[in-house]
Amino acid sequence: MALSHLARIGTPLSPSATKVMLLGAGELGKEVIIALQRLGVEVVAVDRYADAPGMQVAHRSHVIAMTDAVALRALIETERPHLVVPEIEAIATSVLLEIERDGLAEVIPTARAAQLTMNREGIRRLAADELGLPTSAYAFADSLSELQTAIDAGIGYPCFVKPVMSSSGKGQSFLRGAQDVQPAWDYALQAGRVKETRVIVESFMPFDYEITQLTVHALGASGAVETFFCEPVGHVQVNGDYVESWQPQPMSPLALQRSRDIARRVTDALGGRGIFGVELFVRGDDVWFSEVSPRPHDTGLVTLATQRLSEFELHARAILGLPVDTRLRRPGASAVIYGGMAEPGIAFEGVAEALAVPESDLRLFGKPESFVKRRMGVAVATADTIDEARSRVKLAASCVRPVKA
Ligand SMILES: Nc1ncnc2c1ncn2[C@@H]1O[C@H](COP(=O)(O)OP(=O)(O)OP(=O)(O)O)[C@@H](O)[C@H]1O
Ligand SMILES: [Mg+2]
Repeated sequence: MALSHLARIGTPLSPSATKVMLLGAGELGKEVIIALQRLGVEVVAVDRYADAPGMQVAHRSHVIAMTDAVALRALIETERPHLVVPEIEAIATSVLLEIERDGLAEVIPTARAAQLTMNREGIRRLAADELGLPTSAYAFADSLSELQTAIDAGIGYPCFVKPVMSSSGKGQSFLRGAQDVQPAWDYALQAGRVKETRVIVESFMPFDYEITQLTVHALGASGAVETFFCEPVGHVQVNGDYVESWQPQPMSPLALQRSRDIARRVTDALGGRGIFGVELFVRGDDVWFSEVSPRPHDTGLVTLATQRLSEFELHARAILGLPVDTRLRRPGASAVIYGGMAEPGIAFEGVAEALAVPESDLRLFGKPESFVKRRMGVAVATADTIDEARSRVKLAASCVRPVKA
């Protein structure tokens, strides 16, 4: 239904408009919206707070709780977008399933993909049990005693405990021994996204490095949906939150092939069109699946500098049924700029110094309120080698100083 409509692009704000609704309007959504705007698409941004980054570049915006099924359904019925594009996980996915079933709008990549990936249990059971992909050992627990039993029965130490509904490392603990179990359980309960008492416990994977395999499902020359791969993105996480990424991550040919086999299988199972961030752990030639986001990935911000088309432009093209080009242009890196303080309406000093670093660029997201560990911006840079790009980008990011306005 939707694809035939998308065979042409109309005029924004007119009856012919091609309309896209972003559910979530953070820094990743903002870049997707800019890419859509450039292609003449009418964009509606939705988030739970006013003046979110994506709202500042959309045609219209709405503030609603996207976990509120009634409010979400009502908004989609009012706006009647052709495409509904989830940018975050915390959405009433039952509504996405309904509107897809009713043919009200196309959900990117699919309503089922949004539903399975918002809960660690859904995607882990699909990847490990159904597809047989290699993962860490894992178990689910609904109480402290179940958690202890699962660890004693085979997961062992060290291990990770995470709420089944959480992202960006929230509520996640690394457990070295029995003394860490109770604090991990308490932390997961307090930090989980919804009042959920369920956690996943995973064995610790001693990887050499971890990557995001950006994978695009887009129309190919044949007219059918095909799978396209970006060069692997390497990254460093601190407390479950990305702080630095680079592209291309050097890999053995076998590890790269295995990564792409896993990425192809899991994204084929999720279906639809769009970009996916497949998170993988690599040790030598061995590769383990960690998780997948059916949307642009934060570590992929580096592609703003490195690829001919960034992951955001690839997503925009893929969802519109347009051709993609995943080629790397030049090695590069990204580094996160945190707010460093809890304050509304902050300012940034040192921007000129940062942009004087060779081949560097900045994104300041325009978030209305800063928190100590809130991602407020990112620096990106390119160079002949990833080592040089990483030095440049760290220098550029360190030049930017958030200050009280
Ligand atoms: N089983 C594991 N073994 C080793 N490291 C792990 C394991 N699970 C998580 N980690 C580390 O913690 C990071 C965050 O974990 P994970 O991706 O599951 O959390 P998340 O909250 O979904 O984070 P994000 O939303 O930022 O991707 C991983 O990228 C990895 O560095
Ligand atoms: Mg992750």
